Amino acid sequence: MIPESFDLLTPNRSDIAPIQAHIEVTIDDLLASLRRPERLSPEERRGIIARYTSVLEGNFIYWMTSAYLSARSTAAHAIIQDNLLEEVRDNHPGMMRKFAMAADAFPTDSDALAVHRNLHNVRLFVGRLSGVKILLMMAFFEGFISRFMPYLAELGRRQGSAEQEYTEVHGVCDVAHTQGLFRALEAEAALMDYPLTPATNPLEGVEVLLALIQNIVHPRIADQIHLQVNR
Ligand SMILES: [Fe+2]
Repeated sequence: MIPESFDLLTPNRSDIAPIQAHIEVTIDDLLASLRRPERLSPEERRGIIARYTSVLEGNFIYWMTSAYLSARSTAAHAIIQDNLLEEVRDNHPGMMRKFAMAADAFPTDSDALAVHRNLHNVRLFVGRLSGVKILLMMAFFEGFISRFMPYLAELGRRQGSAEQEYTEVHGVCDVAHTQGLFRALEAEAALMDYPLTPATNPLEGVEVLLALIQNIVHPRIADQIHLQVNR
C-alpha cells in the first residue's frame, strides 16, 4: 500500500506538484528495493526479464490507449496521441521482444502465470476508464520504465546479450514522456475539476500497477505465486 502521505490540499485544485513528488518517491523506493544484478542467479535474472516482457509487450499500448479513451481534455489527447504514435511507428513491442529473445528470456507460460493475478487487477482497473487515475498510473509507469532501464540492460548483459536498443530508447524517450503525461494529468484534472486529494483516491491505479511491478522484479515473491498456481 502507498501511504497517503502526500498533502494535496492546495488552493489550485489541479496543482500536480505534490502528487508528482509522491510518485517520484514511490519510484525511488521501488528501485531501492531491487536486488543487485550480480547477486541474482541466471534463472532469477532471466525471470525478471521474462516477466517484464510478458507484461510490457502486449499491454503498454493497450493501457496507453485506455488513457486516450478515458481522457476528455484536448491537451491530454494530443500528448497521449504523440506517445502512442511513437510506440506504434517505432515498433516498441518488437524492440521489447528482441531484447528478451537476445537475453534468452522470452516469456514462458510459467512466467505469464507468475504475474497473472496482478496483471488481471490492472486490466480491471483500466477497464473502468477513469481518465485522471489512468494518466497518473501511466505517468508512474513511464517514470519507472525510464529509471529501470540501466538495471534491465545490466540483466541483459549478464545474460550474455549485446542487444540494447529497447533499453537505450526507453531510458531516453520515457523521460520526456513522463513529463508529458504529468502535463496531460494537469490539463485533465483542471478540465474535470478533479481534486487530487486522498479523498478521491487518485493513486488507485498507481497502487495496482506497483503491485504488478513488484511481482515482476522480486523473484522470490513471484516464485511463490508460481508454485501456488501450479499446485
Ligand atoms: Fe515504448
